[in-house]
Amino acid sequence: MTYLTVYTDSEEPQILLESEDAAGIAATLKEIDVVLRHWQVVEDLPAGAGQEEILAAYREQVDRVIAEEGYTFVDVAQLHPDGSADWPERAAAARQKFLSEHTHDDDEVRYFVSGSGIFYLHVDGKVHAVLCEGGDLLSVPKNTTHWFDMGTRPDFTAIRFFHDDDGWIGDFTGSPIAARIPDFDTIAAGRAARAS
Ligand SMILES: [Fe+2]
Repeated sequence: MTYLTVYTDSEEPQILLESEDAAGIAATLKEIDVVLRHWQVVEDLPAGAGQEEILAAYREQVDRVIAEEGYTFVDVAQLHPDGSADWPERAAAARQKFLSEHTHDDDEVRYFVSGSGIFYLHVDGKVHAVLCEGGDLLSVPKNTTHWFDMGTRPDFTAIRFFHDDDGWIGDFTGSPIAARIPDFDTIAAGRAARAS
């Protein structure tokens, strides 16, 4: 289930809103041109399913998005702790890649098949931290300033949609804002503490 926290982008960020209300979150994000939708999770996907199997399971929904939005390239990104010796290093490198504020000249569209990650959308003096989980489809328009935190223990499977397949480039803004806003681990831990 999606979890939204909205912060001011000031030196000492203040929380303006926290919500787990799916309809309310979608309405709030719509105000900044970000679209959040939900698909029924396919429950019988085996653990360890690969790209072809995952895309086949969501073929109807994927084809609909492609037809509506004109995407030409779709793939599956997944990271799961595997106990290997180089996992901590690979996890840290993957997390670091888009952990600073940046933009893209293509939309960033992700469907979370399982697991979680937080998109931080920095728009109009606010940071919308959108914790996405299985079933969430988030569409971030091109040129939106944002960053993404998968946490120190990345664990997710996501379908990605692109308008072209010549690589996914981030234009980094150089802003230190991402370091001031609570990270994935902090937000996830706070949410879990409140729920218990
Ligand atoms: Fe990005």
